[in-house]
Amino acid sequence: MATMAPDPSPLLIFLLLLLLSAAISTAATISPTSAPTSTPKPPTSTSPISSSTLDPKQLRALQSLNIPTSKDPCSPPPHSAAAACDAARPFRHLTSLTLSNCSDDVALSLTALKSLSTLTSLNFVNCPISPIRFPSELTSNLHSFTCVNSLKKLTGVWLSRLQNVTELTVSRVSITASGPSIILNGMKFLHSVTLSQTNLSGYLPKHWHPNLTFVDLSGNHLKGKIPISLTRLENLVRLNLSSNSLNETIPSTIGDLSSLQNLSLASNSLSGPIPDSLAALPGLMHLDLGSNQLNGTIPNFIRDMKKLKYLNLGSNNFHGVLPFNATFIKGLEVFKVGENSNLCYNHSILGSKVKLGIAPCDKHGLPLSPPPAKDLSSDDSSDSSDDEDYGNVEEKKHHNGPSKVVLGVAIGLSSIVFLIVFLVLLSKCCK
Ligand SMILES: *[C@@H]1O[C@H](CO)[C@@H](O)[C@H](O)[C@H]1NC(C)=O
Ligand SMILES: *[C@@H]1O[C@H](CO)[C@@H](O)[C@H](O)[C@H]1NC(C)=O
Ligand SMILES: *[C@@H]1O[C@H](CO)[C@@H](O)[C@H](O)[C@H]1NC(C)=O
Ligand SMILES: *[C@@H]1O[C@H](CO)[C@@H](O)[C@H](O)[C@H]1NC(C)=O
Ligand SMILES: *[C@@H]1O[C@H](CO)[C@@H](O)[C@H](O)[C@H]1NC(C)=O
Ligand SMILES: *[C@@H]1O[C@H](CO)[C@@H](O)[C@H](O)[C@H]1NC(C)=O
Ligand SMILES: *[C@@H]1O[C@H](CO)[C@@H](O)[C@H](O)[C@H]1NC(C)=O
Ligand SMILES: *[C@@H]1O[C@H](CO)[C@@H](O)[C@H](O)[C@H]1NC(C)=O
Ligand SMILES: *[C@@H]1O[C@H](CO)[C@@H](O)[C@H](O)[C@H]1NC(C)=O
Ligand SMILES: *[C@@H]1O[C@H](CO)[C@@H](O)[C@H](O)[C@H]1NC(C)=O
Repeated sequence: MATMAPDPSPLLIFLLLLLLSAAISTAATISPTSAPTSTPKPPTSTSPISSSTLDPKQLRALQSLNIPTSKDPCSPPPHSAAAACDAARPFRHLTSLTLSNCSDDVALSLTALKSLSTLTSLNFVNCPISPIRFPSELTSNLHSFTCVNSLKKLTGVWLSRLQNVTELTVSRVSITASGPSIILNGMKFLHSVTLSQTNLSGYLPKHWHPNLTFVDLSGNHLKGKIPISLTRLENLVRLNLSSNSLNETIPSTIGDLSSLQNLSLASNSLSGPIPDSLAALPGLMHLDLGSNQLNGTIPNFIRDMKKLKYLNLGSNNFHGVLPFNATFIKGLEVFKVGENSNLCYNHSILGSKVKLGIAPCDKHGLPLSPPPAKDLSSDDSSDSSDDEDYGNVEEKKHHNGPSKVVLGVAIGLSSIVFLIVFLVLLSKCCK
């Protein structure tokens, strides 16, 4: 037996090394195979066709717009334009075109746009070129139009010709119009509209298309009240009317917007209470009513909104006792109630460390008038950082990044351990 023992050990060590290296290489190959899921590589499926197969007329039109066509525009995004094409034979046609970061010498021409009338989606991003009247062949096909910081000035009449669009996005471009109505009234298929930071003036439309799911008219000069007709859009998921000059009260029918998830009416001149009907919107995730002149007490039903992640009631005239406990506040990503001089919090519910920008209540539910002198004098700097911690809870949730590495290492290590156990057993069994 003693002479037998030294014989298998070099063999075993050799086997061990061999299997170890195999285990390491499998562990190493696991991370690269899981990595491509995070690095996008969809273009392979979109363009199986080689060399330019685009309609030569459209190719010339792109060239006249100064869009480099050295690569096939139908293949993945060339330098300054992202395009999509149909699969027609013998020539493909453009269905979608995005012009971004154009140089000043790019000019739109009627001939070019006529040749491009197969487009259903046309997008301008950072292209400060002069707009021209689109040919009717193009406007009748367009389903989606985007203009962000592009086309210099637009008029309501110009936009109103895009009557077949389902999606309209105009942002950071000045629009001259009497109001949004002239733009939107004729768009019978509209699902989604953004006209933000356009200096648009006038009143909100009285008529809205029932299928609207998305309305963003933020950052304009819109005035007057929020029309009740707007609260009849039962498919509306997101409504943003922030940073305008809207006044009067929030319609009591706001709770009829039964699909609503994100609502911002912030930075207007709205007054009166938070309507009770808002309680009928359990799907609400984002409620921003900050910087208005809203008054009354903060309704209890808000604490029962299970989906709520963002709540801003700051800079208003609310009064009374804040109806929230620490659990509720910590469950929110953003919570603001500061700058409501008659609002206070219950010290025995929220404790003393809380910094919400409002005073604690006395036993009558009124703010203890001089806001705690301690906070102001002793730790002014930590005051603001505490406030950040409590009122603006931003939990960073790491999703896929580290878990893949951990998985790879775990698989590698466990296979090594498994192999060692296996080899020990093997050596015993061989003896
Ligand atoms: C346009 O320019 C901005 C900044 O100048 C850059 O971040 C962006 O990636 C550019 N877009 C394209 C499509 O080149
Ligand atoms: C909208 O599209 C239809 C065809 O789908 C077309 O007949 C009509 O002229 C278009 N409207 C406008 C204003 O271009
Ligand atoms: C809106 O008007 C203000 C001044 O009235 C101006 O500074 C701003 O550039 C305008 N915005 C746009 C997008 O034209
Ligand atoms: C709204 O959408 C439904 C189905 O999605 C459609 O049948 C209806 O015609 C649309 N209504 C309008 C006014 O576009
Ligand atoms: C609301 O604004 C409109 C238009 O600016 C004005 O005519 C009206 O008097 C305002 N209403 C209130 C209650 O301030
Ligand atoms: C509303 O629009 C503003 C900018 O115009 C943006 O900062 C804000 O996040 C938007 N809010 C919602 C709820 O969409
Ligand atoms: C809606 O609000 C939630 C919570 O603030 C936010 O995460 C999400 O991005 C918003 N959705 C849109 C489309 O603005
Ligand atoms: C809220 O403000 C309005 C005026 O904008 C006033 O008539 C009303 O009495 C106030 N309500 C409360 C509860 O303070
Ligand atoms: C805190 O308030 C929530 C409702 O927002 C309630 O469900 C929960 O039981 C309360 N927690 C405590 C500790 O009182
Ligand atoms: C604060 O909460 C305590 C305990 O829930 C309660 O007894 C007290 O009445 C509350 N104070 C005010 C001012 O609401």
